[in-house]
Amino acid sequence: MKSLHFYDHGGLSNLSYGDLPTPKPQPDEVLIKVKACAVNHLDLWVLRGWPGLRLERPHIGGADIAGTIAELGNEVSEWKVGQEVVVIPGYAELDDEYTARGEDSLSPSYKIFGESRKGGFAEFVAVPAKCLFLKPKSLSFTEAAAPLLVGLTCWRMLLRRAQLKAGETLLVVGAGGGVNSFSLQLAVALGVKVIALSSTEGKCAQAISMGASEAINYRKVADWSREVRRLTGGKGADVVIDNVGTQTFSQSINSCARGGRIVTVGNTSGALVEFDNRLVFTKQISILGSTMGSRTDFIELLEFIETKNIRVNIDSVFNLKDGEEAYRALEEGRQYGKVVVVPE
Ligand SMILES: NC(=O)c1ccc[n+]([C@@H]2O[C@H](COP(=O)([O-])OP(=O)(O)OC[C@H]3O[C@@H](n4cnc5c(N)ncnc54)[C@H](OP(=O)(O)O)[C@@H]3O)[C@@H](O)[C@H]2O)c1
Repeated sequence: MKSLHFYDHGGLSNLSYGDLPTPKPQPDEVLIKVKACAVNHLDLWVLRGWPGLRLERPHIGGADIAGTIAELGNEVSEWKVGQEVVVIPGYAELDDEYTARGEDSLSPSYKIFGESRKGGFAEFVAVPAKCLFLKPKSLSFTEAAAPLLVGLTCWRMLLRRAQLKAGETLLVVGAGGGVNSFSLQLAVALGVKVIALSSTEGKCAQAISMGASEAINYRKVADWSREVRRLTGGKGADVVIDNVGTQTFSQSINSCARGGRIVTVGNTSGALVEFDNRLVFTKQISILGSTMGSRTDFIELLEFIETKNIRVNIDSVFNLKDGEEAYRALEEGRQYGKVVVVPE
């Protein structure tokens, strides 16, 4: 099968497009013929590598898989060849105290496609049958792949962890990103007032067109936290999403209201952050971490996408053979929303 893969960690030039053996599904797995797979910042992290990350080589990235069932493992009876499916991007391999309370992504056995096992930047991928869900009928394969990982992440981050409510104000730091543009859509659909922070006038305009009440260009307004406070009558945002890290976290704390919540799932600009701790305790700010989500979160997300007719902003679609360009779009931060790879 054709795939986009790498043997050694490093930069984009380590990616190769070429033939690898088609995987054989294990008894509890199915083989998916991939129709679309979206790119996430995670794919860049995995390509670069980090201490302790041990992958079977060659590795194939891609967590957001939509396709059709091509073959069933011999223990799988609940699915049929030809069905159109999406794959939950992460799952707990084992049942434990965390899965028992519906906190799958806290489980030490939690795995993500394209990270801890091979993903969907290929013509075929083998996945455990328990990870399959019917593709929402109203969505094309590209539309169905795009929101999977970002949607699952946002659902848990905003609804379970930050307990975001209608009428509150949300600051989205870096609204052009995949997670962040979906957060904006989700928040607007919930009746939340969104202030978007983004790098270009075009992306700010796009955030407004997607329902943000205000947008600030962080390249032009260096002290953007002051602007957030001004826009909220001095109060600050009830909830701040910051997955940018080093370059933004201190201003995110300055932007947060008394009793507010800052929720983080990542660190695109770096992991080490410095901030004035006095603001955290005097304003009684909660700093919340979140990662991926559970099966229940995923089921609720798919229902929400169908009933609210949510279409994720798809920035661009690349053929698998040009997959390196798809990675490059994220590396250079050119995208607004999602970049998707299709094998044909
Ligand atoms: N823990 C989890 O479960 C989880 C899940 C998904 C993602 N993540 C992490 O979350 C982060 C975002 O992921 P993604 O896939 O959405 O990435 P992405 O699509 O590449 O988006 C990154 C965004 O960060 C923003 N940004 C970069 N530098 C900035 C700065 N100095 N100030 C403000 N904004 C800045 C940019 O926003 P503009 O384009 O608006 O300028 C950019 O689009 C990554 O670090 C990823 O690893 C974690």
